[in-house]
Amino acid sequence: MKFPAEPFRIKVVEPIKTTTAEQRESLIKEAGYNIFLLPADSIYIDLLTDSGTSAMSDNQWAGLMVGDESYAGSKNYYHFESVVKEIFGYKHIIPTHQGRVAENLLFSTILKPEFVVPNNIHFDTTRANIEYHKAKALDCVIDEAMDTDLEHPFKGNIDIDKLRRIIIDQGPEKIPIIMITITNNSGGGQPVSMANIRQVSELARKYNIPLIFDACRFAENCYFIKEREEGYQNKSVKEIAAELFSYGDGCTMSAKKDGLVNIGGFLAVNDDGLARKITNMLILIEGFPTYGGLAGRDLEAISRGLIEVLDENYLRFRINQTRYLGEMLIQSGIPIIKPVGGHAVYINAKKFLPHIPQSEFPGQAIVVELYRRSGIRAVEIGSLMFAYKDAKTGHTVYPELELVRLAIPRRVYTSMHIQYVAEAVHQIYNERDNICGYKIEYEADFLRHFTARLRPINGNN
Ligand code: F0G
Repeated sequence: MKFPAEPFRIKVVEPIKTTTAEQRESLIKEAGYNIFLLPADSIYIDLLTDSGTSAMSDNQWAGLMVGDESYAGSKNYYHFESVVKEIFGYKHIIPTHQGRVAENLLFSTILKPEFVVPNNIHFDTTRANIEYHKAKALDCVIDEAMDTDLEHPFKGNIDIDKLRRIIIDQGPEKIPIIMITITNNSGGGQPVSMANIRQVSELARKYNIPLIFDACRFAENCYFIKEREEGYQNKSVKEIAAELFSYGDGCTMSAKKDGLVNIGGFLAVNDDGLARKITNMLILIEGFPTYGGLAGRDLEAISRGLIEVLDENYLRFRINQTRYLGEMLIQSGIPIIKPVGGHAVYINAKKFLPHIPQSEFPGQAIVVELYRRSGIRAVEIGSLMFAYKDAKTGHTVYPELELVRLAIPRRVYTSMHIQYVAEAVHQIYNERDNICGYKIEYEADFLRHFTARLRPINGNN
C-alpha cells in the first residue's frame, strides 16, 4: 500500500467544533487577520504546528499515573535518563521544559560576543538565543535547499565547503560548536544524510569543535535515511539513530516533536565540565537536575514516547501521511517545496499568488483564506515573519522564500482530515485570482507576526 492506513485505533475522542463561514468571517476580522489571535476552539483542523500537539498513546497516559513527584531522585528521572542514554548515547542528560531552554542553557554557557555558530539552518529560537549573546548564527545549508522545485533526497545537508570556509575565515577558536538540525525545519523539514553528518563530524573533529544536534525530529530524519540512503535499508531506525548520534558530542531536544508529548525537552552532552556548568544554571532557572522544569509524570511520558517514536510502523505512517497531503497538492498543480518533508507541507506562496507582491504578504493571504473558507489554521513563514528594515538604507529586506506551512500533528488527524485539507487548498487555488493582499495596521518591534493586526487591501476580501 503506497499510503499505509493509521497503525492505531481511536480509544478517546475530542470533538472539534465546526463553525459557519459567517462566524469565521467575523472571528478572523476580530483577530486582525492574524491566526495567532484566533481562539483555538474556532478551528476545525489546526496545522499551526507539530510541536506539543501530538496525541499520546494509552501507554503514555498510563505512564502519567506512575509519576513520582519527589523533588529529588524521582524514579521517572532514572527511567528517562536510561531511555535517552540508550537512544542518543550521550553521558549527561539534563531535562528541560522545552527545547529552547536547552538552547538557552547551552548558549549561555559557551557563547561570547563575536562567536559564531554554524548550522544547516538555525531554527528561529536557536538563532534568537545565539544573537541574544551577540554571537552570530550562520546558515550553511546546500544551495539546492533554496530551489523549491528541485528533488534532492537530503536537502537538509550542510555545504561542507561553506562550513570549511567559515571555520578558516573565523578561526576555530571563535566557533564553540557546530550544529546540525535534523530534520531541517526552516528549510522544509528536509532530512540530513548520514554521509553528510559523517563529513561534518570529521571536519569538526579535525578542528576540535564539538558537534551538537538539534534533534527535535531525529526519528523522522532517521526514517528518511533508512528509506533513501544506500546501506541503511536493513538497519532499524534505532540502529541508525545510534550511529548518527555517535558522530556528535551532544544534542538539544524538544520532546514536543519526536518525544510524542505535549511538553518537555532535554540537553545531552558528553563533556563533564560543560554538564556541570549547565546543571548549575539549570538549578537557577528550571529546577533540580532530576526534574528540570517538568513533573515526574511528564518525564515518564517522554520516556515512553521516545520508545514509541522508533516504531517503524508508526514512522512509515507518519512520513507517508505528510507525503499523502503533499502529493495530493502536487496533483492539483499547487506549488510546494519538493520533495515533501517529514512533518509539514510547505506551499510556495510567491508561485501560488504571483499577483501579490511580498510587500502585501501573499503567504498570509493564503493562510487567511484557508481559515475563512475551511476553518483550517496554517502558518505563514515569509515576509510577515521575517521581512525587516535595513538600518542603513531604510529599505525593507524580504526573505527569499515566501511559504505557508501546513504542519501535521502526530497521530492526531485521520487521512480523511488530510483529504479535507487537500481539497480546501485546491479550492482556494482555483479561485486564487480573487485573493487580495494585506497591509499591516499594527506591529510590535520584534517577532511581529505573533501580534500584528492586518487589513485586506481591497474590497474582495
Ligand atoms: N529547534 C527546532 C528545529 C524547532 O522546530 C523548535 C520548535 C525548537 C528548536 C524549539 O523547541 O518549541 O520546544 O522550545 N519548533 C516549533 C515549530 C515551535 O512550530 O516548528 P521548543
